[in-house]
Amino acid sequence: MTHDIVIRGAKAVLEDGIRIVDIATDGERIAAITDAGAAPSGHREIKADGLVALPGLIDMHSHHREPGFSHKEDLGAIGRQCAAGGVTTSVAMPNVSPPPTTAKNLDDMLELYRERSMVDYNVNASGVELDEIPKLAERGILAFKIFMVVDTGRSYPHMPGIGLHKHGELYERMKAVKATGLPLMIHPHDQALMDAIEREYWDRGERDFRAYARAYAHDDGVIWDTAVAVLLRLQEATGVRLHLLHTQTRRVVEMLRAAKAAGRAVSAEVNPWCFWLGNDWANIERLGSYALSYYVAPHHSEAVYAGFRDGTVDIMATDHAPHLREEKEPGWKDGWKAHTGTPSEQFYLSLLLTDVAAGKLSYERVAEATATTPAKLFGLYPRKGAIRVGADADVVLVDPAKRRTITDADVLSKCGWTPYAGRDVRGLPVYTLLRGEVILDDGALAVREGYGRQAVRADARVLTT
Ligand code: DOR
Repeated sequence: MTHDIVIRGAKAVLEDGIRIVDIATDGERIAAITDAGAAPSGHREIKADGLVALPGLIDMHSHHREPGFSHKEDLGAIGRQCAAGGVTTSVAMPNVSPPPTTAKNLDDMLELYRERSMVDYNVNASGVELDEIPKLAERGILAFKIFMVVDTGRSYPHMPGIGLHKHGELYERMKAVKATGLPLMIHPHDQALMDAIEREYWDRGERDFRAYARAYAHDDGVIWDTAVAVLLRLQEATGVRLHLLHTQTRRVVEMLRAAKAAGRAVSAEVNPWCFWLGNDWANIERLGSYALSYYVAPHHSEAVYAGFRDGTVDIMATDHAPHLREEKEPGWKDGWKAHTGTPSEQFYLSLLLTDVAAGKLSYERVAEATATTPAKLFGLYPRKGAIRVGADADVVLVDPAKRRTITDADVLSKCGWTPYAGRDVRGLPVYTLLRGEVILDDGALAVREGYGRQAVRADARVLTT
């Protein structure tokens, strides 16, 4: 017999450990995993000695910007960044226009993705409209998302209509989402407290990017800690499966650890900026708003890193948040006017692999945090999230020895810049396979519009195959 593709002699990160194997695909699925050299021939053979095979990354938190903000990013650019970065499934966030707060808007958005997405996708629907929650849940989504923040001083990215923070409103939405069985992702934020903190800065005339960074990190991260404390208590009251976004303080890690020890249905993500960007004040001085999302003081970043290593912080998702330079520039003078967030879809695997090369992380933990655990938390497993027979053939082959200095010229995002420019990384994706198609081929992009498919729960009734 001849397989479609045989990957020969890869050092594969499998669920039961790391082994040198051949990986054979037939159609969209992994057909066999054998000892190296033991697989029958393939119509296509990929020589993978020296390469590490990881499950294709599942990014549960990416701001794709379509519809409505395609001047910042579009599905084509997202697909290319994913292929180049080893991401095979990228799940969109709801701060788009019109936002997926209603079944009608979500249907339109899913249709747009069905026509144009290059990689597998889904949409985290907004959970603000109580009556829409049951209908949204029937569209094969993986999770709901609520922002507790509505921006002051700018109209994006946290626009009115998709944010809410009153405890009673959160409580009602949690109960409604609990009834669907899906997880609820929440961007924690204590808006009332932030209103007071911002006023202190503004009253002193402090508005630049430094003031903005300090305000969000004020009093050792108090707005994050109080928001998460409330959310965890409401989770206990409602039983909803709560997934906390943007983990960035020591106390949040401690609260998470305690909640998990008590057996509560809680999980959390961390974003690349927490470990490799916002944790160094020098980056903020150098890049201003281009380095923000948020300033994360080193003691917080280290605590989150420890929590990430031991699995308390379950997954890494990008929070890929591209904005144009002209939307960032105002931040030098007024941090509240700059659109907040940084792009990272293309490079986060290399940032992780650089830490593997430095002995700070294991390949096993990288595979778990970027693919297996996201797939398990959001119901994609065992169809996705691991290199196993019968699963989708979503595989990234990386060359752990390859080094590169990231530059703006490498950037495939429409925004055209990266806060990681100048960074030396070690470990680069060379091949990316999505459902048996090679979408990054020896470093060359081979994505095509419309190949992506909605990645639905493995137990979903709305299966698309
Ligand atoms: O910094 C951020 N940017 N945080 C968010 O929650 C949204 C994101 C964006 O969409 O730009």
